Amino acid sequence: MKHDITTFEDIKFLVDHFYAMVQRDSMLGPIFNSRLIGRWELHNQKLYRFWNTVLLRNPDYVGNPVPLHFTLKIDKNNFQRWLSIWNEIIDANFEGIVAQRAKYRGMMMANAFLYKINKDLNSHID
Ligand code: HEM
Repeated sequence: MKHDITTFEDIKFLVDHFYAMVQRDSMLGPIFNSRLIGRWELHNQKLYRFWNTVLLRNPDYVGNPVPLHFTLKIDKNNFQRWLSIWNEIIDANFEGIVAQRAKYRGMMMANAFLYKINKDLNSHID
């Protein structure tokens, strides 16, 4: 039975499964792996706190993640793939209001990151 995202354990599950799939992805895997050698655990811990803040509204993450993405060679196709894996993991494991919000926030933030990286209005993800 699928349930909604309601606890820190759910956030951990979501983040761990999302990045496990990202690591195996032929497009995104090499981009993440080359930057995060030996640092995956710390990265995932930050992402638990990030999504705990965004989805469960527990103020747990402080920082501005956008500049960390400026030096990565990533474009609209990469963000599209990021979003499709994100949506797939959520739909496969969760359902409910927060799960819907997770997909919505993922889409909004992927677009915001892309915009800030490119400063290009034509790079919108549908
Ligand atoms: C193709 C798209 C993306 C790629 C390749 C990517 C890659 C990365 C990498 C390599 C890092 C680690 C940076 C470092 O510590 O050196 C990182 C950190 C992070 N990313 Fe992304 N990212 C993508 C999209 C996103 C999106 C859409 C979001 C938000 C929904 C996001 C949120 C974050 C956060 C919160 C961190 C942690 C920042 C911190 O250390 O405080 N990323 N990302």
